[in-house]
Amino acid sequence: MTDTKTTVGVVAESGADERRVALVPKAVSTLVNSGVAVVVQAGAGERALLPDELYTEAGATIGDAWAADVVVKVAPPTADEVARLKSGQTLIGFLAPRNADNQIAALKQHGVQAFAVEAIPRISRAQVMDALSSQANVAGYKAVVLAASESTRFFPMLTTAAGTVKPASLLVLGVGVAGLQALATAKRLGARTTGYDVRPEVADQVRSVGAQWLDLGIDAAGEGGYARELTDEERAQQQKTLEAAIGGFDVVITTALVPGRPAPRLVTAAAVEGMKPGSVVVDLAGETGGNCELTEPGRTVVKHGVTIASPLNLPATMPEHASELYSKNLTSLLELLITDGALAPDFSDEVVSASCVTREAAPAAKPSSEEAE
Ligand code: NAI
Repeated sequence: MTDTKTTVGVVAESGADERRVALVPKAVSTLVNSGVAVVVQAGAGERALLPDELYTEAGATIGDAWAADVVVKVAPPTADEVARLKSGQTLIGFLAPRNADNQIAALKQHGVQAFAVEAIPRISRAQVMDALSSQANVAGYKAVVLAASESTRFFPMLTTAAGTVKPASLLVLGVGVAGLQALATAKRLGARTTGYDVRPEVADQVRSVGAQWLDLGIDAAGEGGYARELTDEERAQQQKTLEAAIGGFDVVITTALVPGRPAPRLVTAAAVEGMKPGSVVVDLAGETGGNCELTEPGRTVVKHGVTIASPLNLPATMPEHASELYSKNLTSLLELLITDGALAPDFSDEVVSASCVTREAAPAAKPSSEEAE
């Protein structure tokens, strides 16, 4: 009940297409009840249809969220945004730790302690904080809705007085979080679904959502539940067998990812050429170059009569639910970092230590900088 309470600041996102907000009003109530003060930048929730009044009703104040002890964000900060932060502040959000052009070195330089949600380990205890998964779920769902909208054919089988149409056949390449959600969503829309992955243990998950398993005989299970990169020989074999299979599908959704590596090329130009005109490819891996050879990241193009869409930020197109899920991830992480209303990260906790990407204070004005990474 004093003004020495830790403050959490919810800032407005600056990206033109970023409609999500880091905390929704429900999460603000939870934090306020736990003894934390929450400051929200005016209009921070507007693009997620959450007006300032909902935040004040939940116990927040509208003010300078960038000056809070802990600033929470969705998208990685720009250089200008990092410049608004001061030594001793903490930043939590997507920080793109694996991207070469991230702002982590600048944050360190400014003496900002930063936690990257991408670096939260994928262990059972941390599932509730797993923002990559919560947002990949949104992307997997929306990829199917987008494919249905771009498709010239129905997804479900339709029996009408004017005739019967066959259900669409849909293939998902790379069945992690986004891929599994895509299969489940396409099934609900009535498509005939098939999943493919290089981790054999995924077969049962694919079948559990009513899809068929495409077995190409390649086992590339890697560390921590991720795939390893294929050898040149395996890649050539995979592309060749997929080329033959893809022509039989109306829709292909690709989500294959190997952390820190360029997206594996699964759909060659020849495979696209082999698809029936009017078919659709939705490539979720555009940010890392795309799983399809003809993908143009961020654009929707038509090649050989096939529509190839590569949306880069599908979660932002569903700001209400994407923000709600992300907000739950962040509140759970904040609950781990804040004890009795005070920020007190326990670095012996693997979730805390793994997600903290910079914790050193800004170097005082010294003649030489010899800090380690
Ligand atoms: P994940 O790691 O859970 O799943 C990726 C899957 O790809 C894994 O099951 C892995 O085994 C599989 N894979 C890797 N190499 C393969 C290969 N050569 N052949 C077949 N399968 C292979 O990742 P998550 O969270 O589902 O994300 C999937 C992709 O979607 C990522 O590229 C991510 O960046 C992207 N994404 C895109 C969004 C957008 O709006 N465009 C939003 C959210 C995620």
